[in-house]
Amino acid sequence: MPPEDAVIDLRSDTVTKPTPAMREAMARAEVGDDVYGEDPTVNRLEEYAAALMGKEAALFLPTGTMANLTAILAQTRPGETIILSEESHPYHYEGGNVAMVAGLMTRTVPDPFGKMSAAQVAARINQVDDPHYSHTTLVAIENTTNRGGGACYNVDEVAAIGTLCRERGLRLHCDGARIFNAAVAMGVAPEAYARHCDTLCFCLSKGLGAPAGSVLVGDRTTIHTARRFRKMLGGGMRQAGILAAAGLYALEHHIPDLKEDHRRARECRTALEAIGARFPLPSPTNILYVESPDAAAVVARLARFGVRVNPPRGNRFRLVFHRDITDAMLQRAIAALIEAMA
Ligand SMILES: Cc1ncc(COP(=O)(O)O)c(C=O)c1O
Repeated sequence: MPPEDAVIDLRSDTVTKPTPAMREAMARAEVGDDVYGEDPTVNRLEEYAAALMGKEAALFLPTGTMANLTAILAQTRPGETIILSEESHPYHYEGGNVAMVAGLMTRTVPDPFGKMSAAQVAARINQVDDPHYSHTTLVAIENTTNRGGGACYNVDEVAAIGTLCRERGLRLHCDGARIFNAAVAMGVAPEAYARHCDTLCFCLSKGLGAPAGSVLVGDRTTIHTARRFRKMLGGGMRQAGILAAAGLYALEHHIPDLKEDHRRARECRTALEAIGARFPLPSPTNILYVESPDAAAVVARLARFGVRVNPPRGNRFRLVFHRDITDAMLQRAIAALIEAMA
């Protein structure tokens, strides 16, 4: 149990720390050199992840950013176009790697929730046989959406985009950094989403609580190619089983706990709505955006009460609930928010 005056860190679910049981699993992990394919724990994680998502193969990577990038590199060639949301993580927060490393044009879809419909995607596909144009070859969705307030797709929406991509000969990637949050919130198996996507990556180091790591799943050929790009980008780790053991532990034990993060986010929202706080987006999972005309001052006041949040974006600041936030911390955070926003 954290001490009663522990700092309440609501900046991100990436701040979660490994539990004693997870550390125990890491300490006991059998390891080998994963670049030679000889780390039994990494191999076990990759097999587990592929089976969980109903795909042929999986690849363990150090970060979600590298998972997205290897998926993109493995399914495009420089000069082609990727369609993605204007709010998506690769578009905003991956250092421009889509342009610099993959050499792609981006065609974006505006939507406050960071989602795209099949019709919006269809309207942006370019396959005209004219040398003036860059051809669309890849579509990337995000589920749940980070900048969209943790919004999730329902399976039919993903199925419609998947069908469109298949009909038009495009590949579909899902940045499922928080795919288990989506699956838990929508009451579906994660495989129900993965089925409609060629590749999907998910993070072990966010709400699932592992210290590092992401997994990319897909067909054998695409994952083989992604493995080449992982090495090229410097992501081939050696005795990575120590990290993979944490990931396996998280997948085996922590997925059901995500619903508690969603409940705490809901409770926080309800308490703040009762004092007239405004929320620009629905928040079906663990991410809340709060709107305030003096957001920067509220954030500064929260820091004085021991509640950490990221600097605001305009008039909104973000609260992210995760497994290191207890119910007692939730109540302290709510009290601090009420006072800071008064
Ligand atoms: C939706 C989404 N995709 C990808 C990433 C990248 O993950 P990493 O920080 O492990 O590179 C993040 C990180 O917050 C994210 O929220």
